[in-house]
Amino acid sequence: MYTQEMLDSIKNVERTRSERLHATLRRMEADEKDKLLQEYHPDYRTTGFKNILVGPNKGQKAPSELTDLLQAHSRLTGKHIDLEVVDYDVDVLIIGGGGAGSSAAIEADRAGAKVLQVTKLRMGDANTMMAEGGIQGADKENDSPAIHYLDALGGGHFSNRPELLSRLVHDGPLAIKWLSDLGVMFDKKPDGTMITTHGGGTSRKRMHAAADYSGAEIMRVVRDEVQNRGITTIDFAPAIELILDEEGKASGAVLMNFDTGEYSVVRAKTVIIATGGAGRLHYQGFPTSNHYGATADGLILGYRVGAELLYQDAIQYHPTGVAYPSQIFGALVTEKVRSLGAQLINRDGIAFMNPLETRDVAAASIIRECSTNKEGIPALDGGSAVWLDTPMIEDLHGEGTIEKGIPGMLRMYAKFGIDLRKQPILVYPTLHYQNGGLLIHPDGETTNVKNLFVAGEAVGGIHGKNRLMGNSLLDIIVFGRIAGKSAAARAKETKTGKLTLAHVEKFEKSLADAGVETDKVSPLLLPTYTHGRTPRKS
Ligand code: FUM
Repeated sequence: MYTQEMLDSIKNVERTRSERLHATLRRMEADEKDKLLQEYHPDYRTTGFKNILVGPNKGQKAPSELTDLLQAHSRLTGKHIDLEVVDYDVDVLIIGGGGAGSSAAIEADRAGAKVLQVTKLRMGDANTMMAEGGIQGADKENDSPAIHYLDALGGGHFSNRPELLSRLVHDGPLAIKWLSDLGVMFDKKPDGTMITTHGGGTSRKRMHAAADYSGAEIMRVVRDEVQNRGITTIDFAPAIELILDEEGKASGAVLMNFDTGEYSVVRAKTVIIATGGAGRLHYQGFPTSNHYGATADGLILGYRVGAELLYQDAIQYHPTGVAYPSQIFGALVTEKVRSLGAQLINRDGIAFMNPLETRDVAAASIIRECSTNKEGIPALDGGSAVWLDTPMIEDLHGEGTIEKGIPGMLRMYAKFGIDLRKQPILVYPTLHYQNGGLLIHPDGETTNVKNLFVAGEAVGGIHGKNRLMGNSLLDIIVFGRIAGKSAAARAKETKTGKLTLAHVEKFEKSLADAGVETDKVSPLLLPTYTHGRTPRKS
């Protein structure tokens, strides 16, 4: 239910709708975008970042909350863990129960490896489950991996690692086929061909979706496959420290039982980090579209054993987070709403930008519209927002389009008395994705820690400094599968030496040498506002 002030503002949106319906909204020029980003994108603010004082990325900046965790104490500092007592002995340890971890598990198992997949919550409690709009894959006649490459490179401001991006786009059609063969029910036309749509920054329609719950559909299928294959999984068992061997190879992890706080030791020939993102660190006070588990754990684990980060300061704010009502503040309003034609409208009823600009540009444009000199529409707690003109969708494509294409959105708003077929919705950017992460080779192995592989949102470099919609669901599948195959192959030729946690002490020393004084402990595991519920011994 909207306030009277909001209802009055909606009249401006309705007043201009018919003339906007078939208008072509211009795209911004490159220099216009650069200026906009520098002035309004949160990544360009001087506040909100701190320099990293220790480790491979020493001297570079990261969001303050991340820097604090990167240079926090280990959960094992001052504790003795008997590494001679091995609780699980496997070929491949996979840390993370989302789409990337599960894809890796399936491929490692298929390659004959003994696999253990652990997750700090439950299998499928992950950002994958919450992904809505779709997955890119250049499998149409008018498209190609090369065109996909150019789109993602432009969207990423030409900062994507070429060797990673080419793997992503090349394997895109294979990933769609793999998922479809496993049973993912992508939207199809009556003749059975896949329906594909645009996302921000795509020059071809290559977004494959399952309505607006594409991630949940993908997770349903890969999780089933993990279970059907009989792969061993452990829920509520976060990895709190990696274990190396005496040669410095990744060789397992210490797990913590989330109920009892007890520790167990996993010895593994290879380790895959697939722990997802960091939205629950709420950089710069932003709300988030992310899962409760998104606390950058994998970045911390990898960094502490010496793995290098790339673009850790490049954060994605999804342009359309829910700005009202409060119960769903910060939740994702899928980009698919804009690809179906809904425009972003300011308080004067003006469509102030092309709705399919790339995400960083769209987010900065909304922030500019709501900044003090222009003012957005008053939303919650003194914040402001812009309208997303959802009723346009059915004016453009006919009645029933919303129920069919974005049923999740329709239901989410209906719970609060808002029918988005009839009324626009209030949106403002929400913290959605970490563009940066641990740097890998194209085979998924980190560039400087042997036998440590990474997949999914914990990887940095694939998307450069700004990811396009649908390339994240793609990267979890492509690089999840690659990591699973590579880790299984490496396990066959690896002899693990004596296990050690010596890096914990070494890291403590580097903190002391750098003069870092902190009472923080990492990985964080759960956002600070749930700390009352962490295990007894943590
Ligand atoms: O808007 C969305 O549906 C989000 C997709 C993505 O982050 O790829």
